[in-house]
Amino acid sequence: MSLLNTPFDPAREAALVTGAGNGIGRAIAQALVGEGVRTVFADVNPDTVNAAAKTSPRPELAVPWVGDLANHVAREALLADACSAVGRVTHFVHSASPPRREADHAFAVSSETWAQMHAVNLDAGFHLARELASQLIAAHQPGSFLFLTSLHAGTPRNLPHYSTAKAALAMLVRELARTFGRFGIRVNALVPGAIAAGGFVADPQLAKHIPLGRLGRGEDLAPMALAVLSNRVSAYVTGAAIVVDGGLSLMNWFDPPALEDL
Ligand SMILES: NC(=O)c1ccc[n+]([C@@H]2O[C@H](COP(=O)([O-])OP(=O)(O)OC[C@H]3O[C@@H](n4cnc5c(N)ncnc54)[C@H](O)[C@@H]3O)[C@@H](O)[C@H]2O)c1
Repeated sequence: MSLLNTPFDPAREAALVTGAGNGIGRAIAQALVGEGVRTVFADVNPDTVNAAAKTSPRPELAVPWVGDLANHVAREALLADACSAVGRVTHFVHSASPPRREADHAFAVSSETWAQMHAVNLDAGFHLARELASQLIAAHQPGSFLFLTSLHAGTPRNLPHYSTAKAALAMLVRELARTFGRFGIRVNALVPGAIAAGGFVADPQLAKHIPLGRLGRGEDLAPMALAVLSNRVSAYVTGAAIVVDGGLSLMNWFDPPALEDL
């Protein structure tokens, strides 16, 4: 049996992906379905999430779910609906996040925008992960959770509601990895660079600061997401922050060497 050909056990495993209507979440959810894993696609946008499920490699395994994850009642409904649709969720991916607007600097960001950013990233991530972990622990089943954080968990972004939410999420990953590890539940962070998806409108000029020479796509994140989620491939990986950024985080104020004679 080839290890990399069978990363999941579709008879026993099922997934829930938030933010699955667009961008990185959609790419990961569709890739899971492509591996034969029954997957709930959760998003606040009905049009995009229905389209994402429908255009999956195996639409019969993709279950769209619509709701606002800033809302506690909606999160409870998602947990119940996911359980009825796919059974026990063993793999949880938290990619939902409100859009970033460059105008929302420290003096401009409203209380509502601040609260929504933290509610969707941190509060929903914590609540859903804790409930899903409790279900797995009660059933003596292993699991694997993946949170989309950001390079801006560690460096400012001029968007304090966003960077503080991601910094908190990065610590939540480490807290949960430590607490859940003894139950066989792994918790990791996936750290994207500049990915031209819906949440970030990238200036194409940014490409010149990326060693691999281009902006990323949601599809660049999906293979690594699957590898980290897989209990077969990454059984001994927890509490890690895995950077997929084409080398963007290597950028600093020194230019790369000229290398004219090559
Ligand atoms: N794109 C990047 O360059 C980049 C970089 C670093 C981190 N990230 C992180 O990766 C994740 C995905 O980014 P993306 O660019 O694919 O984003 P995106 O905007 O394309 O997708 C996010 C999805 O979350 C959904 N969403 C927003 N608010 C919601 C709510 N209240 N309830 C349910 N769903 C909600 C949106 O409808 C959207 O479909 C985010 O957490 C983002 O912060 C992205």
